[in-house]
Amino acid sequence: MSVKLETRGLSKAYGAFVALQPTNIQVREGEFLTLLGPSGSGKTTLLQMISGLVPPSSGQLLIDGADATHASPGDRGMGLVFQSYALFPHMSVRDNVAYGLRMRKLPKAEVNRAVEDALGMVRMQDFAHRYPNELSGGQQQRIALARCFAYRPSVILLDEPLGALDKNLREHMQLEIRRMHKELGATFIYVTHDQEEALTLSDRICLMNRARVEQLATPLELYDQPASRFAAEFIGHSNLLCGRVSEYGTLQVEGRNVALAGCGGSLPGPGEATLLVRPEAAQLTAPAQGVLAGRIEECVFLGSDIRVLVRLPSGAVFSVRCARHLHPSVGDEVGISWQPQHATFLPAQVKP
Ligand SMILES: Nc1ncnc2c1ncn2[C@@H]1O[C@H](COP(=O)(O)OP(=O)(O)O)[C@@H](O)[C@H]1O
Ligand SMILES: [Mg+2]
Repeated sequence: MSVKLETRGLSKAYGAFVALQPTNIQVREGEFLTLLGPSGSGKTTLLQMISGLVPPSSGQLLIDGADATHASPGDRGMGLVFQSYALFPHMSVRDNVAYGLRMRKLPKAEVNRAVEDALGMVRMQDFAHRYPNELSGGQQQRIALARCFAYRPSVILLDEPLGALDKNLREHMQLEIRRMHKELGATFIYVTHDQEEALTLSDRICLMNRARVEQLATPLELYDQPASRFAAEFIGHSNLLCGRVSEYGTLQVEGRNVALAGCGGSLPGPGEATLLVRPEAAQLTAPAQGVLAGRIEECVFLGSDIRVLVRLPSGAVFSVRCARHLHPSVGDEVGISWQPQHATFLPAQVKP
């Protein structure tokens, strides 16, 4: 797949404050890339520099291989959608969607066709004559999307576009946005702080933390092979077992020796190492049969199954997802086991 857009050492500082460290990413033609990270990690800053609305402090932006670092926003062929819908309140839905096309002085028939297409894409054909204050939040966001789609940009930038919607509507709109991405075939760069949203939508996720890229990978890779403690903890639930690797090829943790053989990730050398075990990869056993043992401290009913929190001897808590029919109960002494291939070593951390 060809590269649509590339940043080379792109960075942003406000005075002495670094909002984005020099960043190198490649976005592929037609892919759905999500910038995911906690609030303040630099997602919007990166997106705005790609859009041209914020000038970088250093580095380069390439679009289709050509330097576009200093191109004006209007010349970049990009569409933008933000959390606030920013519709013109005094214009009908149709006029809102047509606005950018009319600004481009397209022939009337072409404008009408593009508006119809865009409204169809967001399933709002029947609302063309309404005004923004006659629409729900979700409908307004659809119109904001249609306004962006109407002029068929090859890159669409979306900054937390579903942030103002309630959970059910947000989940519905996620599926809708995925459908729209397929139908449009454009490159999408989507900002969110919501990991589930990122996992649902993305071809790849660019995980950001403290003004830099932590890991850029597919959702599956990010979940199964996080490159750092931050990545392991930000995506999904995780149990991180930190211990010392013995000369016999075991990880010494919680007073036990956990075999290293067969585990995923890169097997650590002597020294400290961290093993990741996801709650759904672990099972409860009799105390003597577990790799680890402890006492059940809490059972959280999740509907389909139960999240069991087991207090280990060190005081750490290990989370296990367990079937309802096993009837775990608080106070039980239990063992915890897992298949080695379902546990992954985190790469040895390079301290910055
Ligand atoms: N115009 C600005 N002036 C000073 N600091 C800014 C400005 N814009 C953003 N920042 C800071 O840069 C950091 C990254 O911001 P932002 O990219 O908006 O984060 P995110 O979108 O991940 O929440 C934040 O600490 C923010 O306060
Ligand atoms: Mg932001």
